[in-house]
Amino acid sequence: MTNKLKYFIGNWKMFGDFGDFKIIHKINRFGYESRKLLKKKKIILCVPNTLIHFFKKKLESKFISLGVQNCHYHEGYGPFTGSVNAAMLKKAGAEYIILGHSENRLEGESNKLIKKKIISSLNQKLNVVFCIGETLYEKKRNKTFSVLRKQIKSSLKKNFNMNKIIIAYEPVWSIGTNKIPKMNELKNIIKFIKNDFKKILKTKKYPKVLYGGSVNDINIRLFSPISEIDGFLIGGASQSSKKFIDIVRNYYK
Ligand code: PGA
Repeated sequence: MTNKLKYFIGNWKMFGDFGDFKIIHKINRFGYESRKLLKKKKIILCVPNTLIHFFKKKLESKFISLGVQNCHYHEGYGPFTGSVNAAMLKKAGAEYIILGHSENRLEGESNKLIKKKIISSLNQKLNVVFCIGETLYEKKRNKTFSVLRKQIKSSLKKNFNMNKIIIAYEPVWSIGTNKIPKMNELKNIIKFIKNDFKKILKTKKYPKVLYGGSVNDINIRLFSPISEIDGFLIGGASQSSKKFIDIVRNYYK
């Protein structure tokens, strides 16, 4: 159930400009200086679409992969004003894509639509970071497990290439709030996701499951004992090279 490789994925959301390459540059330098520490850690930064190509061209790194945060579901070109598809993002340099983030779900993205986006992204051989999580309302009504099951069931299919899918468990009430789950509850939820995924999708392997929501350089230590967590999706703290590096450094301390 436990994977040795731990993922640290930054989600820059709608933040960042060309000059913010300095953040990536510093993380990259840290990577070269701390090769040993990063041996079993994978760093991915998911940046705005406007920056991906520029960053990709500038970045020469064995340690950092780049990704984006959403796409249109349509696979070819089409009359979809303001949108970009997975193929365009792949060509621009993305290797990873975050899909199903609760901030997009809140704008009306359904499980069905997310499924279409996953299919088009997998067709482009992008690695999908598929976000799931319950709201506070659902948590208070003990609906967490049924919500997660429904999100998995309705957006993933048995024949998907599961090696290209990473699940990010992000309780909505925890995103940007400085609130994190109780560690014993989180451990159970991560285990539930892994077991349920395997059952629903009839896979042989457990999926990789990350935690996301208010992870920072201080609280990261609390997560270290939960070996079932395969890494973290980091929002606010990934926009500072210092905080992001300290998260990577302080994990397992
Ligand atoms: P946060 O965001 O770390 O700022 O809470 C996480 C996310 O939305 O992916």
